[in-house]
Order: sequence, then structure tokens, then C-alpha cells
Amino acid sequence: MGEIVAEDLQKTFVTPEGVEVVALDGINLKVRTCEFLCVLGPSGCGKTTFMNIVSGLERPTAGRVLVDGRPVEGPRQEVAVVFQEYNLFPWKTAAHNVEFGLKARGQSKAKRRDAALRYLEIAGLKGFEDRYPHQLSGGMKQRVGIARALAVDPEILLMDEPFGALDAQSRTFFQEELLRIYDRVKKTVVFITHNINEAIFLGDRVAVMTFRPGRIKEVVGVDLPRPRTLDVLETAEFASKRSAVWRLLREESRKAFEAKQEALVFGE
Ligand SMILES: Nc1ncnc2c1ncn2[C@@H]1O[C@H](COP(=O)(O)OP(=O)(O)OP(=O)(O)O)[C@@H](O)[C@H]1O
Ligand SMILES: [Mg+2]
Repeated sequence: MGEIVAEDLQKTFVTPEGVEVVALDGINLKVRTCEFLCVLGPSGCGKTTFMNIVSGLERPTAGRVLVDGRPVEGPRQEVAVVFQEYNLFPWKTAAHNVEFGLKARGQSKAKRRDAALRYLEIAGLKGFEDRYPHQLSGGMKQRVGIARALAVDPEILLMDEPFGALDAQSRTFFQEELLRIYDRVKKTVVFITHNINEAIFLGDRVAVMTFRPGRIKEVVGVDLPRPRTLDVLETAEFASKRSAVWRLLREESRKAFEAKQEALVFGE
């Protein structure tokens, strides 16, 4: 369970000025059960829009998403999301933040506490259960977010640039940590990023998107063996994958860069 199929997804936004923005244009993608799929593309190519549609938070203009053969029509229990911002309740402890989703599912207090402690431990936060968000570092808050998403035991974990706010060094440790968790819990993961190394290090496959309108340009298989550690970054296989993916992304990044320059010149 946990297969995702996107069929001819299209999303057009209309800005307050009445301008139409085609964010997604004909996305077709299949994510296999327990696969770790990374979606890579430059800023503004439609990655978050794609994720919001898969999670059911946003409706497509045309096309549809099927989870295990059933069309997604709104947020659902089998799908958990980790956002770039931590989205924790500041007045709740780490454990209570993790318990929140379980309470909504009607689980007993004792069961909720058990699950919260278990997933906080998996996320490397044993001993921090009763801390409030302001007593935790940014990285720890992000781990609480991951524990919270996993605690509801979803079939699918959607992650939108979850490590974007971290410095480069902490980011690599988090990637390794996430793989350790993935090896333990095995879910279908869709991981959004604009970082090539991150996409290749984490993914079984990397879907490279085009810049505006967002389409899937190509899906690249990453056959590096698991479990993976950061040592894989030094290998020749990694380097050759990296240059193959960069060749695909380069043109799209240039378009994104030029669009940004234009926006600066014309004051958009
Ligand atoms: N509510 C909205 N109204 C109008 N345009 C929107 C809206 N949401 C997104 N867009 C536009 O749709 C396009 C895709 O946006 P999206 O946030 O999905 O990109 P992204 O790939 O996630 O970018 P980033 O890497 O910066 O997070 C952008 O051009 C954006 O300006
Ligand atoms: Mg985004």
C-alpha cells in the first residue's frame, strides 16, 4: 500500500491582478509502494503545488491523483506531510505535538503517549519529550515534525524541502538520519528539494521538473545500494549520477534565474 499515481495533472492559478499562472502542465508520475522518490526542480517550478495536490490540500485544475487506486479528493489519514516550516504548537511539549494527530484519530491517552515516545526516540529525541518548541533547536523542531508525521503511521510521507532552513553541514547529517529512519519504517516517501546532492543521496529515483510550466522532464534511477551513508557522496557512481542530473537541471535553473532577473528589471 502507498502507491501514488498522478495523471495529467494541471494547475493554473489566477493572481489577484487576474493574470493566469500555469504552475503544472501535464504531470504524469507513478510512485511505487515504499519507494523513496525525490522531486527536483528550480524555485517556482511547481514542486509545492504538486505536493499540495498529492496531499489533498489543493485541487488540480485538471487531471487527478490516485492513492492505491482511489482518487484523492481531500486530506486523508494515509498521507502525512512535513512542511518546510516546523508548524509545531508552541504551547505544547514535543510529546504533545506528536500526540496531536493521534488524538484526532481517537487513540487512548496511554497509546498516544507510547507512540509519541517511540517516534521521538526514532527521531533521535529521547530525553526531550517534555521540552517546549522554544527550548529546542531548529533541527530538533524539524525532527519533532518528522516524528509527528510518522506517529500516525501513514502509508505515505510527503516532505517539502524539510531541511531547507538548515545550514549545509547539519543538512547532511539530517539526510543520513532520515535514511536511517526510512530503513526502519519503510514508507512511500515523496521528498521535494532543489538540491541535487540531496536528491541523489536520498532517492531511489529522482524526478527532474521543468521550469514554468512545471512538467516532469525526466525520471532518473539511482541504483546506489542501501543502507547509504555519507561516504557514498565520495564515490565515482555518485559523481556520474550527479553530472547526469545536473545536465537535465541546468537549463531549467537558467530559465528560473532569467525569470528572476526579468522580475527584478520589470519590478514584478
Ligand atoms: N496561490 C497562488 N496564486 C498565484 N500563483 C501561485 C500560487 N501558488 C503558487 N503560484 C505560482 O505557481 C508557481 C509554482 O509555485 P510553487 O510554490 O509550487 O513552486 P516551487 O517549485 O515549490 O518553488 P520553491 O522552490 O521556491 O518553493 C510559481 O510561479 C508561483 O508563483
Ligand atoms: Mg516550494
